[in-house]
Amino acid sequence: MDTADRTPASLDLAALAAPNMSPVLGRYFDRSWSHGSGHRLFDTAGRGYLDFANGIAVTALGHAHPRVSAAIHEQVDKLIGPVHTIGFSEPTVRLAAMLADTFPDPLDTVLFLNSGSEAIDGALKLARRVTGRPGIIAFRGAFHGRTIGAASVTTSSLNYRTGYEPLLPSVYFAPFPAAYPEFGGDDEAASAACLRVLESLLQTVIAPSEVAAIIIEPVQGEGGYYPAPASFLRALRRLCTDNGILLIADEVQTGFGRTGEMWAFEHAGIVPDVAVLAKAIANGLPLSAIVTSRDLQQRWGRGAHGTTYGGNPVACAAGIAVLETIRDENLVANARLRGAELSGGLRELMADHPSIGDVRGPGLMIGVELVADRSSGAPDGALADAVATRAAEAGLLVLTCGPSHQVVRWIPPLDVTVPEIEEALRIFEGALEG
Ligand SMILES: Cc1ncc(COP(=O)(O)O)c(C=O)c1O
Repeated sequence: MDTADRTPASLDLAALAAPNMSPVLGRYFDRSWSHGSGHRLFDTAGRGYLDFANGIAVTALGHAHPRVSAAIHEQVDKLIGPVHTIGFSEPTVRLAAMLADTFPDPLDTVLFLNSGSEAIDGALKLARRVTGRPGIIAFRGAFHGRTIGAASVTTSSLNYRTGYEPLLPSVYFAPFPAAYPEFGGDDEAASAACLRVLESLLQTVIAPSEVAAIIIEPVQGEGGYYPAPASFLRALRRLCTDNGILLIADEVQTGFGRTGEMWAFEHAGIVPDVAVLAKAIANGLPLSAIVTSRDLQQRWGRGAHGTTYGGNPVACAAGIAVLETIRDENLVANARLRGAELSGGLRELMADHPSIGDVRGPGLMIGVELVADRSSGAPDGALADAVATRAAEAGLLVLTCGPSHQVVRWIPPLDVTVPEIEEALRIFEGALEG
């Protein structure tokens, strides 16, 4: 493993950033990072941290992955682009075909953009233009991004919306079927109750014939790592099909094998009309995609949307290396197996730690909810923040999520190993004990 420190020793980048870098961006840590190698991030003092944050599920193959780095180097010397507006480049065309092969029929047509938020905005535009309807239904607690369209369907925190009203009109919110704590972990009860509210919304607030799209994260991310029950996703699929509504799956965080299936909607055996991808797609280079049937994007119309940088050849070359690695190294299966081991280890910790209220989530997208009191499920965000801080001090990077930051989220690399999971569990247990 390459552990060379490439930044002058102990350089304090937070101090260097203070005079000129925008204070707008929130950060989980103020540490100064020098470089990454495999599953470790190294700070400027040369200390390595086991990286189970991955830039929030972005560097899903870890840092400086040899195959991804080689593909980037080769493409940088050949053609950086952007070329989209003047023609085609080989990595972009090849990645579109490879991505299409990972989707069930009829999803075979890919529009590349740059970020998750931008792709969400694009998907909302597509839905409105193609259906000729204004309404969008989103779920409470969702995070779909920061651009004005994506923020309009985001309710995971007031800070994403405050001061930006009026946001997009004709956006309606329904409750997300989070089984814990309200339904005591009972998926079916959560699913049935939330469907009743959605049906009532469609009976009394906006007619189905006015709704262009329903947008959902198959596992709610930022909002607290809540998996949508399969029965709920199936009911949404039926409702959309029966009413000519497009079902948009936001797979920005859940995609690329993260949940133990290539796409999280596959757990429910459904096919959405639109899938939105980003994050892990190019292991850290900016790239995102909207994937639909050919028919849908043909009806959207030539020139109905566009991009300068989207699908740039270097990011797409990285994307090809990502897909090839996931395929050749069976990483979807690895996410399933290692995810079961990690969830199992975390559930064992529950026995001795009443502060763990819930362990949930498929594959390597696991939420551990910390509570002040297990019987009421009252969230303990302060404890989760303290545990994440102590874990980092002990050499493990994990992040929090949820409305009170009460959930420690586990998003290890897809090629995480058994010894790394054991190391992380040991550190986490120490951090829980304080
Ligand atoms: C589910 C989901 N959708 C959309 C986004 C927005 O992506 P980006 O930050 O690339 O704009 C995110 C980012 O965290 C996300 O988790």
